[in-house]
Amino acid sequence: MTTTTKTTKTAPKLVLVTGGARRVGQAVALAMAQAGWDVAITYRTSAAEAKQTAAAITKLGRRALPIRADHADPSAPKKIIAQIRRRFGRLDALVNNAAIFSRSRLGQISPAEFDRYLAVNARGPLLLIQACAPLLAARKPTPQNPCSGKIVNLLDIHVLGQPMRGYLAYNASKAALLEITRSCAIELAPQITVNAIAPGVVAWADSYSTKDRRQYLKRVPLARPGSPADVAKAVRFLLEDADYCTGQIIHLDGGRLLS
Ligand SMILES: NC(=O)c1ccc[n+]([C@@H]2O[C@H](COP(=O)([O-])OP(=O)(O)OC[C@H]3O[C@@H](n4cnc5c(N)ncnc54)[C@H](OP(=O)(O)O)[C@@H]3O)[C@@H](O)[C@H]2O)c1
Repeated sequence: MTTTTKTTKTAPKLVLVTGGARRVGQAVALAMAQAGWDVAITYRTSAAEAKQTAAAITKLGRRALPIRADHADPSAPKKIIAQIRRRFGRLDALVNNAAIFSRSRLGQISPAEFDRYLAVNARGPLLLIQACAPLLAARKPTPQNPCSGKIVNLLDIHVLGQPMRGYLAYNASKAALLEITRSCAIELAPQITVNAIAPGVVAWADSYSTKDRRQYLKRVPLARPGSPADVAKAVRFLLEDADYCTGQIIHLDGGRLLS
């Protein structure tokens, strides 16, 4: 006996990757496009790189939407969501990747500097989660897709008990994002999962000298830095496979937290 299977063509899913024009965010955006997702990215200053990333996504056969936004601006999420609704009418996942990172020594931290860290690295992701939640929860769960939406926040291993000396404002902002991750996992269940990735070095900051890099790697059991592609693989796992996982933090650090 022959059976005919009726195949229904489902629309591609859409992921929004903040800071998706370059470095880690770009790797995540391209990996998700390769996996068959449409991709919206935000950028602030990297307009040319955003255009190139969008072109690369289109070349992979997926739709791309680059959106200029400043995540320190509380009105940004509303504008981002309006553009996504207009172009795609859906949203399946959000990756909060955009962040600022530089030294801030105790004794020299101004109120404006501290506020800026919290605004970009913690309040920005939180306001975007709030604005995206209705769209992320909009699809009816199915046995194949038991959760409607997925959120992944980018943290840092240094918020997990080993703060980085000389980076107090950054450490504090990422620690806030850690608690936002856990709280949102509770608040948005059962429709939306919220997890985080805490990388060690996956793309060296220009400010790291050769000596700093050697010192850092001495304490990495896997004896090498990670790469943006390592983050992209972990994001893809959380977005596509980790249906029964929420409020969790993946340590992507070559074992550095153990040493
Ligand atoms: N690189 C690492 O080894 C490492 C280690 C631990 C954690 N992480 C975390 O992983 C994520 C990605 O790391 P990365 O090194 O690729 O980051 P990055 O290069 O320092 O920054 C990523 C993007 O964030 C965007 N951004 C910054 N401020 C913004 C604002 N106010 N509004 C909108 N966009 C803004 C920038 O966009 P424009 O260029 O368009 O201005 C930038 O391209 C970050 O959350 C970082 O904290 C990275």
